[in-house]
Amino acid sequence: MSKLWVRKSIIDLQNESSEGGLIKSLGARALVLLGIGAIIGAGLFSITGSAAGYNAGPAVTISFVIAAVACAFAGLCYAEFASMIPVAGSAYTYSYATMGEFIAWIIGWDLVLEYAVGAATVSISWSRYLVKFLEYYDLHLPAQLTLSPWESATLTDGTIVSGMMNLPAVFIVVAMSLLLVRGTKESAIINGIIVGLKVIVVLIFIALGWAYIDTNNYTPYIPQNTGTFGEYGWSGIVRAAGIIFFAYIGFDAVSTAAQEAKNPKRDMPIGILVSLAICTVLYILFAHVMTGVANYTSFKGADGIAPVAVAIEHMGTMNEAGKMVPAYPWLNKAIIIAILAGYASVIMVMLMGQSRVFYSMSKDGLLPKIFSNVHPKFGTPAKSNLLFMVFVSLFAAFVPATVVGEMTSIGTLLAFVLVCAGVIVLRKTHPELPRAFKTPLVPLVPILGILACVAMMISLPGDTWIRLILWLAVGFVIYFGYSIKNSKLNNPKK
Ligand code: ALA
Repeated sequence: MSKLWVRKSIIDLQNESSEGGLIKSLGARALVLLGIGAIIGAGLFSITGSAAGYNAGPAVTISFVIAAVACAFAGLCYAEFASMIPVAGSAYTYSYATMGEFIAWIIGWDLVLEYAVGAATVSISWSRYLVKFLEYYDLHLPAQLTLSPWESATLTDGTIVSGMMNLPAVFIVVAMSLLLVRGTKESAIINGIIVGLKVIVVLIFIALGWAYIDTNNYTPYIPQNTGTFGEYGWSGIVRAAGIIFFAYIGFDAVSTAAQEAKNPKRDMPIGILVSLAICTVLYILFAHVMTGVANYTSFKGADGIAPVAVAIEHMGTMNEAGKMVPAYPWLNKAIIIAILAGYASVIMVMLMGQSRVFYSMSKDGLLPKIFSNVHPKFGTPAKSNLLFMVFVSLFAAFVPATVVGEMTSIGTLLAFVLVCAGVIVLRKTHPELPRAFKTPLVPLVPILGILACVAMMISLPGDTWIRLILWLAVGFVIYFGYSIKNSKLNNPKK
């Protein structure tokens, strides 16, 4: 029984951070860009509109603030750990040092939901936008090859076709995996370019849209609750915060690159907190413009790209016939390009995070050695990247996009809860250790972080909880069947 709770010493972890073949190539700027690369994606472009339309109205900006505060609590806790234990495993490693091997295993296994399942989810959305983008140019991909076998599409002539596999989703997963194999520095450079593009498009949307804000759309700012929890009013704001939490997922991925940071003690907190702060400001402004140019009710029924398209259609002037003439019809295409590029960087950072968590778990003996094998030339865990390329591609090709987003959210929230708890535990067990960055107001900030994340977990549907429990059950089988017998800490002679 005591084997389950064996803890890794911080000193060993700190020594580990300087060994191993991962190349230290990332500075503070690259880490901030990595964070933004992982954060801005489907959450902003797709979910904001429906959260405003169905749950919060214009007050979706308040939802963004609430979710940002919850993430900031968790982000401050991540920053303390990442500056103190700059090892690739992120929440998994922190839990190993504070709460023991079993909890660490749970969290490492749980992070597959955030990173691998998250990457598959975003790749399926990417495929959808590629199809839309090509249609602008009259190029039509066969529907069978853009949908999973569980989905079907109605063609213009009325025939219904069933999907076979989602090839574009596989394409983007393969492309991003191969980029990661090639090198962390190369991946970071491409990520930097993509982040520049998507931030510019977001800024253009905000700047151009600002002039078309009709303040009447902000009245009422908090639409009256319909009588059902989550449909407008304050409960709607809270429900929307739980939904748009997805938009913030990714800042924690910065911590998985700790072992590749040149100066992790200083740069890890910067990477995590600055990327979170920049995205928070952009999100609130974006949501403010979106619900200002078009009434929140017009976002109902709009999914995918449609909410942003609805807002752009409202940036225009009425002609004599009383029809809105959009001032910036090109903006729609620009947004789709930003989405395609932006989602690609989310997928890339998620895949990178996934391979780094398994790298650490494999180094500790909890997973087979192949996951910590580093490519002699590229200095990346190339074999692990390729294995996950296959795993995530299978999801991307054959699983529909429904519910996986919520699986990603619940998995991430569980990780946040344990990281917040870990800060409190480590302050008690090792108060003497030097902390390059200290979470302020401990234990208040971690406790608030735990409460906020648990509240958001509770707001997720019951079947998401069942899926989480099933996933963890599979993890238990692997842990007791393999990991506990091969754990280096539990079997020092191995
Ligand atoms: N935050 C990422 C997104 O919104 C996961 O796509």
